[in-house]
Amino acid sequence: MIVAIDGPAGAGKSSIARQVANELKFDFLDTGALYRAATLGVIRAQVEFDDTQALIEVVRGIDLQWDGETILLSGEDVSNEIRSPTVTDAIRYLADEPAIRSQLSAQQRRIAEGRDIVTEGRDQGAEVFPEAECKIFLTASPEERARRRREQLTSTGRHMSFDQVLAAQNKRDREDESRAVGRLRAAEDAVILQTDAMTPEEVLAWVLTHVRSAIAKC
Ligand code: DC
Repeated sequence: MIVAIDGPAGAGKSSIARQVANELKFDFLDTGALYRAATLGVIRAQVEFDDTQALIEVVRGIDLQWDGETILLSGEDVSNEIRSPTVTDAIRYLADEPAIRSQLSAQQRRIAEGRDIVTEGRDQGAEVFPEAECKIFLTASPEERARRRREQLTSTGRHMSFDQVLAAQNKRDREDESRAVGRLRAAEDAVILQTDAMTPEEVLAWVLTHVRSAIAKC
């Protein structure tokens, strides 16, 4: 059984997907972590980002492992390093390249094979797992997502103004929505949940109810 949760940056997908997986004893897949770790691999290989062929070659040779919790690059746990602004700013070079998307999508399908899994990203319901039994598109207004993101940054000692957070997020939204392949979008059969007026607990409860009812129909 596959539960696909997609949505824009800052919508709270990761945290909800992880909690739903825990609750239902499903595996969890953070596909953004795969894109991030592949980007870190390219940075470490010191390849020019505008050299598409070299990018594709490096990513083809990269050893990425996801164990349900941590992401390993050539055996090294890079879970923290992949969250750095340097990595975040460079992801688009990989995410925009169809050959790289195709490789990472194939890895996502291999990870999910034969398992009950909650997977989250941008293209899970619409492209990678069109057959998923349950598809949810989690979203919130740009301002609300930026407000939550800023709160999260402040709680970890990093300070950015609301306008800075919103501007960086708008840039990512534009990139995520406009790529030719794998763009951020809700699958036609996804249920869209607008979370502006909901607490995280309410979102979790809503998603769990929805997923349980999808399981009951399987
Ligand atoms: O979910 P995240 O913020 O960690 O994702 C980082 C970037 O990776 C996101 O801005 C676009 C890319 N990505 C993607 O193209 N497809 C996915 N399924 C997941 C992430």
